[in-house]
Amino acid sequence: MSIPSHLASVLIASTALLGAASASANADLAKAKNCLACHSVDRKLVGPSYKDIAAKYRSDKGAAAKLAAKVRAGGSGVWGTVPMPPNPQVSEAEAATLVNWVLSAK
Ligand code: HEC
Repeated sequence: MSIPSHLASVLIASTALLGAASASANADLAKAKNCLACHSVDRKLVGPSYKDIAAKYRSDKGAAAKLAAKVRAGGSGVWGTVPMPPNPQVSEAEAATLVNWVLSAK
């Protein structure tokens, strides 16, 4: 049995909507956790843009875990001399969510 085409397009549209909703939920989380005080998706501020971070780690499979730990602990020396301060207000799960969102920036 094939799915009638009008139903298929409704499915596709609602999937796209869900995707958009979770992207903005992630942006809201980044805002709530103060990440966006130093980062923007597409411009360098105090820290590198999320697009630049995503591009740098695109082929690095271990990046998500490494970066999630760094988000919580802080660190410097990868993008320049300005350090990222520790972010203890971010739980491990939130750090993983935020990093996956950062790494999906295009
Ligand atoms: C006070 C400013 C500041 C805040 C707040 C901040 N960052 Fe950063 N972030 C930086 C700087 C500066 C760097 C570059 C550090 C380096 O060169 O190693 C950085 C680097 C990063 C990196 C890349 C690390 C690497 O080793 O390549 C990620 C991912 C990141 N930040 C995510 C976040 C997230 C998520 C938050 C919110 C919980 C956040 N940042 C909050 C300043 C900040």
